[in-house]
Amino acid sequence: MAERRPAAGSRGAAGSRGAAGSRLTAGSRAAGAAPVQGPRSDVADQGLAAAGLARIGWAERAMPALGLIRAHFEAEQPFAGLAVAACLHVTAETAGLVNVLRAGGAQVHLAASNPLSTQDDVAAALAACQGATVSARSGADRKTYYEHIHSALDCAPALVIDDGCDLVNTLHAERQELLAGVLGGCESTTTGVARLRRMAAAGTLGFPMVAANASETRRMLDNRYGTGQSAIDGIIRATNTLLAGKVVVVAGFGSAGTGIAERARGLGARVIVTEVDPVRALDAVMQGFHVLPMAAAAPVGEIFITATGSRGVIAAGHLAVMRDGVILANAGHFDVEIDVRGLAGLAVAVHPQVRPHADEYVLADGRRLILLAEGRIVNLVAAEGHPAAVMDLSFAAQALVLAWLARDHAGLPPGVHDVPAAIDAQIASLMLASLGTEIDALTPAQRDYLDSWRYGS
Ligand code: ADE
Repeated sequence: MAERRPAAGSRGAAGSRGAAGSRLTAGSRAAGAAPVQGPRSDVADQGLAAAGLARIGWAERAMPALGLIRAHFEAEQPFAGLAVAACLHVTAETAGLVNVLRAGGAQVHLAASNPLSTQDDVAAALAACQGATVSARSGADRKTYYEHIHSALDCAPALVIDDGCDLVNTLHAERQELLAGVLGGCESTTTGVARLRRMAAAGTLGFPMVAANASETRRMLDNRYGTGQSAIDGIIRATNTLLAGKVVVVAGFGSAGTGIAERARGLGARVIVTEVDPVRALDAVMQGFHVLPMAAAAPVGEIFITATGSRGVIAAGHLAVMRDGVILANAGHFDVEIDVRGLAGLAVAVHPQVRPHADEYVLADGRRLILLAEGRIVNLVAAEGHPAAVMDLSFAAQALVLAWLARDHAGLPPGVHDVPAAIDAQIASLMLASLGTEIDALTPAQRDYLDSWRYGS
């Protein structure tokens, strides 16, 4: 992307416009900015709206924390008149978030963060709602994907939500006239936050972005339990394979890789972990996993799952020595972890879609390697992403962060910010309340003891 340093004071200028200035919506543009059309929905089949509505209703039943936030937002209207541009997986759970923001007064303009994860029925249902537009079609090509992001940006957003940083990146590279109107936003993924940090380090990031992935609650639930379960879910749906007794190689032992490894072991797989980080590798060893370099794991593994956020983790050299029938799946955000081009280069034949989301690559000696979801994020392509109960927490955090930004944005400099600890605690409390779980509170004597350095043995 084009590097651009925001003009000195541009953030101040945005802040000094105050609430009225920040509430630009389509059609009320900053002076001097080229007029653009407001966002319009572009979905595959509007006739799917009723099916989508039912699917959203089912997901919302499992999202009680968002339900509690919705009730607050309806009363307080934290986003009254604000335009929100969102680039997220277009799923029933995302629709739950969109509905909560709409209830809080926002106009939400949603684009897909991955063309293969779009649920066309959900897109149709949302596009039929007041206060939302949706630009998302499953299977959209790259050109359409970016047109959809531009369409969402056409609302001249006051707030942004991203999943992978493509929207924020496009905004800075190609829609700089919109920068001054953005109060801030939040980013969902580890990959997206890494990109934001690189933008901030280069002095390019023009507004505050909150790293929603870094919150304690999120790390625990979303990556470990959400990705852990849904990646395995995607592999099973795509292959109907039995995991018990299989050698499963998990690349990356961050919180997502940890969750995947735990779940695979829970289903009876013999799990090998590969890592580049010695601390994480040690953690994996201490948890009883077999840790190997990928070069040593490649000839013995039967199912490979990448969750590193890095590229070329399974390279052509690894693919060349794999066993007949191996299954290759990526659980990371981008389709760069498995060298798909290298795989195509090794293959003498490709049998696409031997099952939905499973392509078979045949090597010269007859070995067959099965690539799931084209090497894209398997849990959202071959399954439905994290269960709603997990997204409840993730999206509750994002909803509260956005309300906080709408209220307190003035004090925040451009850059990457953590989720405020108070919001993290609030989310955990909401989740516990929705589960009907009560916990203890510190007594004054305990508080005094913990706050003091005077008490010893
Ligand atoms: N990311 C992971 N799972 C998801 C889901 N179900 N909906 C939206 N984004 C997701």
